Amino acid sequence: MPVDLARAAALRREIERHNYAYYVLDQPTIPDAEYDRLFRELQALEAEHPELATPDSPTRRVGGKPLDGFAPVRHVVPMLSIRTETDTEASGAQAFDARVRKELGLGESDPPVDYAAELKFDGLAINLRYELGVLVQAATRGDGETGEDVTQNIRTVHAIPLRLHADKPPVVLEVRGEVFMRRDDFERYNAKQREAGKPTLVNPRNGAAGSIRQLDPAIAAQRPLSFYAYGLGEVQGWTPPPTHSATLDALEKLGVPVCAERITGRGAAALIAFHDDIAARRDSLPFDIDGVVYKVNRLDLQRELGFVTREPRWAVAHKFPAQEQLTTVLGIDVQVGRTGALTPVARLAPVFVGGVTVTNATLHNQDEIDRKDVRVGDTVIVRRAGDVIPEVVAAVIERRPVPEPPRFNILQSYPVCPECGSHVVRLEGEAAVRCTGGLYCPAQRKQALLHFAGRRAMDIEGLGDKLVDQLVERGLVHSPADVYGLGLDTLAGLERMAEKSAANLLAAIEASKATTLARFIFALGIRNVGETTAKDLARHFGSLAALITADEAGLLAVRDVGPVVAQSIRQFFAEPHNLEVVNKLRAAGVHWPESTGVQQSAGILAGKTLVLTGTLPMLTREAAKEMIEAAGGKVAGSVSKKTDYVVAGEEAGSKLTRAQELGVTILDEAGLLALLESQEQ
Ligand code: IVH
Repeated sequence: MPVDLARAAALRREIERHNYAYYVLDQPTIPDAEYDRLFRELQALEAEHPELATPDSPTRRVGGKPLDGFAPVRHVVPMLSIRTETDTEASGAQAFDARVRKELGLGESDPPVDYAAELKFDGLAINLRYELGVLVQAATRGDGETGEDVTQNIRTVHAIPLRLHADKPPVVLEVRGEVFMRRDDFERYNAKQREAGKPTLVNPRNGAAGSIRQLDPAIAAQRPLSFYAYGLGEVQGWTPPPTHSATLDALEKLGVPVCAERITGRGAAALIAFHDDIAARRDSLPFDIDGVVYKVNRLDLQRELGFVTREPRWAVAHKFPAQEQLTTVLGIDVQVGRTGALTPVARLAPVFVGGVTVTNATLHNQDEIDRKDVRVGDTVIVRRAGDVIPEVVAAVIERRPVPEPPRFNILQSYPVCPECGSHVVRLEGEAAVRCTGGLYCPAQRKQALLHFAGRRAMDIEGLGDKLVDQLVERGLVHSPADVYGLGLDTLAGLERMAEKSAANLLAAIEASKATTLARFIFALGIRNVGETTAKDLARHFGSLAALITADEAGLLAVRDVGPVVAQSIRQFFAEPHNLEVVNKLRAAGVHWPESTGVQQSAGILAGKTLVLTGTLPMLTREAAKEMIEAAGGKVAGSVSKKTDYVVAGEEAGSKLTRAQELGVTILDEAGLLALLESQEQ
């Protein structure tokens, strides 16, 4: 054998071995770069010696020349369809078993029938014809008698072997199965298309069917498809094993992909168990299925049962409820979420999908509406999978009403929040359109209150989830300001609220009035303003008035504040509803020490290092630290020559002794407060 010929054959074997390991076994054997190198070497050899190219060469997987059309292929053994049980109950399996037993003449005392059960894949049926082990032709089902020759496209499906793994392959072996697209491949492909500004696939099923029907195999080659075998067509020179399940095992040994989600079992009970198991796991499978298929396992019994009107008596499909349906969009409105995001929702003509009647489906956000170009009046595909909220998958553009309805734009249709009338904005770089009335908007009330009362915000102990729910639902609290108007009678009347806990809560509410500017800013729940930013803002501006009136340049001068945060802050205080709540809070007695901020003065403790030791009579350590930081000081953990002040409380220990040794100024709590107040004058 000439060297080149031997090398080409060796390369083909090696590349296909890696292909099989990667695409069928899901166990990659070599790095991609190495695979590419082998592939290019083979391509170069074949280009130099075209006579070396064989029909089973992996180089043929990349797609050949575009076709004018597909040639017809007559199936030697017709490709039949199977009877479908549309009911979703166990009775489907029982009715099938009863029919089979009757046809076989089995009585009640005869043993149960052995069945095989497998998945009903949702793709495109294909017949693969292997002659002496080499894939020579692939055809679609067509009308069952005559299909189309899609060999070029099928060669691009890496999981399909171009040569069977057998030393003595059958003379003819036709493998039947389904070409489909896995969900992760579908998502990845669409993401890539979207990035490139190219059209996306509507769903995995259309992805698979559309790819195989592509006249240009180079396009088909870019679509990631998979394949599972479920049966045989014409066979010559090979005796299949005596059962369906053993036949699939044999195909697997020949290198043909067979799905592992299959069972064999006795009687209807085994089928029902399989049906229920798969129905429960449907959404976590890596690909879409539309049901399960039951088959009599013994091939001799299959032959005995035969066919009626193009459907075998030995098999039945048990369909799950369809997860996609067509319907029309009656209108588009928005729902305001807990965080103020306006989610567009399509109001639909009622449609039964995924087992329930659906009348609304989410459109996610403006970008999704634009991408799918969904308009009022459109016919759309609606999907509901498992417990996931229904979504509009795509608009069927061919069915768009004439004249064309206008495009839908959230900001144009909803310039103000439908819940509270506050202005609606879209921040740079954000997908969501949001209501700016965070403190006032009923949709955001619970969220805003919980955040306001949080430990690191106003720290109102006892004002948690359950209580916030009750206060809001009974209309007792509309905004955080109303918390300060609550009385003992009102609180004691609530569920799970004894007089004692009501009194404790009132005390906590009262205590929260004395706070810091940083906590207050954080408590407002301004989007993108976390605890650290709130501290930076408080230190920088010193007073709430300075923050409210700051322009963009002023805000950008604050450490770590960028354009998005600055925009959030400006939009929050530009909303009159929010200012109203802020004013009510101050009128209710919420207060904090204000300063002129670091813009004018550096703060009384600027550049100073303080150490806290012992227990202070009034302030918690955290509060003392915040106040020191607000005045520009730094709190350190140990005393050194660089320490400016040591603030000592009760039971101060070694730190106090060390301060005395080093001659550092020692303050008590009152001394610290006096120092801080001297700055506020
Ligand atoms: S057996 C003679 N098994 O369902 C019986 N079909 O109506 C031949 N399908 O379009 C079919 N998964 O492509 C069989 N595990 C499975 C299947 C399956 C999907 C499709 C098949 C055909 C339709 C049958």
